Amino acid sequence: MGNKHNDDRATKYWDVTGTDTTAWGQTSQDTDLNEAIQEAAALLRAGETVAFPTETVYGLGADARSNEAVERIFAAKGRPSDNPLIVHIADLSQLNEIVLEVNDTARRLMEAYWPGPLTLVLPVRPGAVSPRVTAGLSTVAVRMPAHDIALRLIAAAGCPVAAPSANRSGRPSPTLASHVGEDLAGLIGGIVDGGPTGVGLESTVAEAGSDGTVTVLRPGSVTAEALARVAASVHTDPALHRSGREENSPAPRSPGMKYTHYAPRGSLRIVRGQDPEAVVARVQAELAAAEARGEVTGVLAYDEHLHQYRASIVISLGPLGALENAAHRLYAGLRRFDEEGATFMVAEACPEEGVGLAVMNRLLKAAGDEVIDV
Ligand code: TXA
Ligand code: MG
Repeated sequence: MGNKHNDDRATKYWDVTGTDTTAWGQTSQDTDLNEAIQEAAALLRAGETVAFPTETVYGLGADARSNEAVERIFAAKGRPSDNPLIVHIADLSQLNEIVLEVNDTARRLMEAYWPGPLTLVLPVRPGAVSPRVTAGLSTVAVRMPAHDIALRLIAAAGCPVAAPSANRSGRPSPTLASHVGEDLAGLIGGIVDGGPTGVGLESTVAEAGSDGTVTVLRPGSVTAEALARVAASVHTDPALHRSGREENSPAPRSPGMKYTHYAPRGSLRIVRGQDPEAVVARVQAELAAAEARGEVTGVLAYDEHLHQYRASIVISLGPLGALENAAHRLYAGLRRFDEEGATFMVAEACPEEGVGLAVMNRLLKAAGDEVIDV
C-alpha cells in the first residue's frame, strides 16, 4: 500500500449495473455489490478518490475530513480552489457531526426531501471537515443522496464524503460511468458503475433562514414550487436570473454558479420565444446558414419540433410537456456534440418553470448566455 500514490495511477473499476439494489435476498449479485462497496470504501478510508453514482449525476468522492484526500478531488478535476464541495452523508447522525445547528425550516425540508436531490447550506461545526471543502466559508453544503449504492458506500466508508460532480472542470457533469472514465481515468482511485443516473442535473442547493424563508442558490429537480410546500417563502438568488456578462451583475451566493460550466467545444446558442412557429423557423434558419458555411451542425430540441430540423446531429430532449426528460438527457447530449465534432449548435429554450428553471440554468451556462430572442 505504501507506494499507492506513486506511478501506479490505474483507476479501479467495479461494474455493479446488473445488481438489483432493491432486493434483499442474498443472491450472488448481492455478494458482488457488497464486495465492490467494501473495496471502494477501503479506498476512501485510505484517502483516495472514488467516483460513484447518485440519483442526480456521478460524484467524485473523498473523505471530507482529510485535507490530502480532498486535495486529490481538486487536482483530478482541475477545479478552482475557491469553489466549495458538497458533503454527502448516509444518515442523520453524520449530520450532527458536521453542522452546528439545523433550524426548523431546514429540518422540515430534510424531512420532506431527504434522501433526495436537495443540498442544504448549514453552519459548519468548526474543525469537522477540511477547510478545503468549505473554501473557508462558515457554512457547509450537505446532502443525503437517494441512491442505494451511494448510501451504502458512504455508510461503509464511515466518514462524511465530499463529492463534486465527477467530471473535469468545465465539462458536462457525468450521467454515465463512461463519462467519468472519459474525463478522469488514470486520475482517480476508482469508479463504481451503477448505470445511468436518474435526474441528470445536479441537486438543488438551498439555504433556509431562521425566519422560514428559503433561498435557492442553484436550481435543480427539487423545484421552488416543491420547496414552497414546506417553507414560508422561497426566493431564487437574483444572480441566477441575470447574465453573468452584464456589468455590475451581483456575485452569486453559491460560488460555483459564477463559472462558465458545461461548455461544449463548438459554439452553442439558444433560441427562445413565445411563438413555437417562430422558434422553429429561426432554429432552422440558423442551422441552414451554418450548413452553408460548412459547419458540423447540431440541434437539441423538443419532440414536438424535432422532425422539422435538418442538422448533422439531432438530439431529442423529450416532449416539452415532460421536462424531466430534458434534465435527464441534456449533459449526455452536450457530450455527444463534442464526440461527433459539432462546431455549431442550436438549442430550443423551455419555460423556466418547475425543473425547466434548472434545465435553462445549465443550458444558459453551456451557451455562455448566447440567446436569440424571437
Ligand atoms: O447533485 C449534486 O449535487 C452532485 C452530486 C455528485 O451529489 N454534486 C455536485 O457538487 O454538483 P458540485 O461540487 O459540483 O457543486 C457544488 C455546488 C457549487 O455550486 C458550490 O458553489 C455550492 O454547491 N456550494 C458548496 N458549498 C457551499 C456553501 N457553503 N455555500 C454556498 N454554496 C455552496
Ligand atoms: Mg460540478
